[in-house]
Amino acid sequence: MMNNQVTDRLASTKFLLVITGAGISAESGIPTFRGNEGLWKNYRAEDLATPHAFARDPETVWEWYDWRRGIIGRAEPNAGHLAIKELEELFDNFLLITQNVDGLHGRTGIRNMVEIHGNLWRVRCTREGKTSMLMDVPLKSVPPKCECGAVLRPDVVWFGESIPSLALEKAFRVIEQCDTLIVVGTSGVVYPVASFPETVKNNGGFVIEVNVEPTPISAVADASLYGNSGDILPMLVKWLRRKRQEG
Ligand code: OAD
Repeated sequence: MMNNQVTDRLASTKFLLVITGAGISAESGIPTFRGNEGLWKNYRAEDLATPHAFARDPETVWEWYDWRRGIIGRAEPNAGHLAIKELEELFDNFLLITQNVDGLHGRTGIRNMVEIHGNLWRVRCTREGKTSMLMDVPLKSVPPKCECGAVLRPDVVWFGESIPSLALEKAFRVIEQCDTLIVVGTSGVVYPVASFPETVKNNGGFVIEVNVEPTPISAVADASLYGNSGDILPMLVKWLRRKRQEG
């Protein structure tokens, strides 16, 4: 039975890597990017999520992030986020790599996490590169300005930009080390994360996918669990705890 295979594997895992995408936050009421209800249905990524768009029209880009922060600010971490925090406690070696910029994982108190696309509650000076929390910055203009006078931008990775090297190095290191990967709520089309499941697999690791529907990752995954991450992840935690108790 699939459940047994997944539970057995988890029970013998030495290093668990979890990767998440927008789907984990969907049950918190935060729109995903692709699909019928996705942000990229109503907005063009190239008008809002590229360095070129920000250089051309910083006000519109900033307001779009303000709108998203409004939704996210009213949202709470859901059962899926909380289950991942529980997984962190159940494994000696654990890392979460999230593509999400909403900060919801951080609000569960998780410690071992790489936000590979940044965080929209942080800002970065376009001149000095210094980062700060948005709430610590005086909001006198749109977009706000750094003390040095330069415009502040969201501290996120836009299309055409590279992932900060420290985050990327850590991700690549753990992809080599982990023996099990759970990949949750991502369409698996944005690189570099899209290539991670295959790399883990080629290194002999076991890949578990959690999604509401099949994705390109399904072809690589050893097990695909279809359903809401807020239902499936707590179930995985329950199975694992039971298995560990049985010894
Ligand atoms: P997508 O919107 O591309 O994909 C969301 C995935 O979540 C889809 O595969 C859905 O089927 C799945 N999903 C939706 N609801 C779910 C639920 N309740 N439980 C489980 N799965 C669910 O989002 P990402 O893959 O995260 O990048 O997108 C990757 C990157 O593309 C984002 O980080 C962002 C975007 O453009 C940048 O902005 C740089």
